[in-house]
Amino acid sequence: MRLLVVGAGGHAKVVIDAARLAGFDVVAAVGHEGGAEALLGVPVLLAAQDVAFDVFIAAIGDNAARARAFAAYVAQGLTPATVVHPTAVIAETVTLGAGTFVAAGVIVNVDARVGQDVILNTGCTVDHDCVVGDHVLIGPTASLCGGVSVGTGTLLGAGVSVVPRACIGDNSVVGAGAAVIGDVPDGMVFAGVPAQPIRPIGA
Ligand SMILES: CC(C)(COP(=O)(O)OP(=O)(O)OC[C@H]1O[C@@H](n2cnc3c(N)ncnc32)[C@H](O)[C@@H]1OP(=O)(O)O)[C@@H](O)C(=O)NCCC(=O)NCCS
Repeated sequence: MRLLVVGAGGHAKVVIDAARLAGFDVVAAVGHEGGAEALLGVPVLLAAQDVAFDVFIAAIGDNAARARAFAAYVAQGLTPATVVHPTAVIAETVTLGAGTFVAAGVIVNVDARVGQDVILNTGCTVDHDCVVGDHVLIGPTASLCGGVSVGTGTLLGAGVSVVPRACIGDNSVVGAGAAVIGDVPDGMVFAGVPAQPIRPIGA
């Protein structure tokens, strides 16, 4: 299957590597003027029209930018691919949405539901019955205990831990290393151990 990687930064490199190991033929990445000309031997183009492909994945770390790219490609009738590194352990009853990327060493446990265009980054764990919304990024080595929900567009930083059944809202950010011991509302930045509100998003 010929895969187009949308994005040409560090995260795109990680996706290219995983996609190849998962059996995709990575034909090109889409970057911007003045950026790298190739990533891991894959040509970086300025427009998707310049290459033939079957499926695409949005490989941009920033949630809002990735969501915009994902929506724009889907609106053109293009098909998002779900890319899972072969070392990830995904229970049989898990659902992974279209366009979602699962990095090396990730574990997703039974009955978890992961939305579209999500990044489950290196070594994170998403335990049983979690619900992860669209356009979320779960940072490297973060741990979600059972029954946690994470709203659309939210970023959980590297190494975050979340207690069972906590509800984390939409478009929020939890800082690296935080321990989330209760709910996090929509549109807030939380950080620390235990996690506390720092400021509203955009303030
Ligand atoms: C929480 C975070 C979003 C805050 O970013 P910011 O708004 O630019 O904040 P600043 O760096 O200006 O820091 C603001 C205050 O919060 C503190 N702070 C920042 N990040 C923190 C963290 N992770 N844990 C605890 N405190 C933190 C700072 O020390 C500072 O405190 P002060 O006001 O007493 O000096 C950011 O530091 C972070 O942790 N991002 C997650 C990145 C990540 O893991 N991404 C995964 C990519 S794969």
